Amino acid sequence: MPGDRDQPAGRRLGAKIEVGLLGATGAVGQHFVRLLAEHPWFRLTWLAASERSAGRRYGDLPWRLAAPLPEDITKLPVESLRAGNGPELVFSALDAAVAGECEAEFAARGHWVVSNARNHRMDPCVPLVIPEVNPDHLGLVHRQRAERGWRGGLITNPNCATVGLAMVLGALRWFAPRRVTVTTLQALSGAGYPGVASLDAAANVIPNIEGEEEKLETETQKILGTLEAGAVHGHAVRISAQTTRVPVLDGHTEAVSVELEEHTTREDLLAAFAGFSGTPQALALPSAPPHPIVVHERPDRPQPRLDVDSYGGMAVHVGRLRACPVLGWKFVLLSHNMVRGAAGAALLNAELVVTRGLLESAYEGDLAASSHL
Ligand SMILES: NC(=O)c1ccc[n+]([C@@H]2O[C@H](COP(=O)([O-])OP(=O)(O)OC[C@H]3O[C@@H](n4cnc5c(N)ncnc54)[C@H](OP(=O)(O)O)[C@@H]3O)[C@@H](O)[C@H]2O)c1
Repeated sequence: MPGDRDQPAGRRLGAKIEVGLLGATGAVGQHFVRLLAEHPWFRLTWLAASERSAGRRYGDLPWRLAAPLPEDITKLPVESLRAGNGPELVFSALDAAVAGECEAEFAARGHWVVSNARNHRMDPCVPLVIPEVNPDHLGLVHRQRAERGWRGGLITNPNCATVGLAMVLGALRWFAPRRVTVTTLQALSGAGYPGVASLDAAANVIPNIEGEEEKLETETQKILGTLEAGAVHGHAVRISAQTTRVPVLDGHTEAVSVELEEHTTREDLLAAFAGFSGTPQALALPSAPPHPIVVHERPDRPQPRLDVDSYGGMAVHVGRLRACPVLGWKFVLLSHNMVRGAAGAALLNAELVVTRGLLESAYEGDLAASSHL
């Protein structure tokens, strides 16, 4: 029953849904393993990674998180990426070099793939979803069956820097955002493991992250866009992004200025942020934070070290809201790139997929009959 944190959508009562993980050995993959160990609906039973790791026990590979590696996962073998193996629902934390082809093949063979990778995010047949902002975009999966002949489905979550920006602009949607500038200060963990060389990263700022600015600009327009007649029409907001890498472990900070079409006051904006809520909160999905946006009034917050882990890393923090002499309003936001920007985002997307009854329909039903999409 939707809204019941212990059981999803009346499905497989008494048993958890088995899930698999592609890219289980990477930085994001390890966060999936950590979060799935405590998940009330899902049970991780199948792991896959590259040929470098395949054939080994997961517990024999390096584990880089402070949280202990869950005991039952240590014994699981790491498999190679062969579609058709593994459970119906698989998460993907694969490197972009392999994710594109591999995820499409899994979807074609009947898996539901919930992906972090960038490869399919801008595909017109693939939903790019933040469940609080655009849950209706899940409806795009109809096209995957009709146009690609996939027996399963593929849905994606945004880039780790896009998610915070798109969430706050989602909260401001009724004031009609017109133009936005954003400068990011992105954590080292965003580059995966081993990521940026230590001699480049220490006590330094790197003023370029390859391909990241375009993702912030285009993914945000798709997420805020409107689904009409089976296609997403991107939002007209114009975004200018500059992205930098800074010596922070976890948590992307973003300095944002925004021009709104509607006249508004600071109080209105604070109320829009603090009162923002969506489908995950209405359905009380297990990974949903009580408030997707947390507002800070102290002038020295949010900070990655103090705030990034609160609410399990699933909230977007906003502070320093003030007038901007150029665009109207400016503020600082912070989000956890490995949780809300990666593994936690995909878990929330999968919970949405389950509550929409899509898993069963992948094999048995007619997707087009899922009228509640
Ligand atoms: N880090 C973030 O903040 C973040 C946020 C959002 C999205 N993402 C995206 O999430 C994905 C994973 O990122 P990450 O930071 O976890 O990267 P990572 O630490 O480099 O991990 C990459 C994973 O992909 C596997 N892999 C690499 N090459 C492969 C191949 N040829 N065949 C099969 N598997 C292969 C690796 O397996 P082996 O260990 O066996 O090599 C590993 O499990 C990327 O697409 C990234 O863009 C990352």
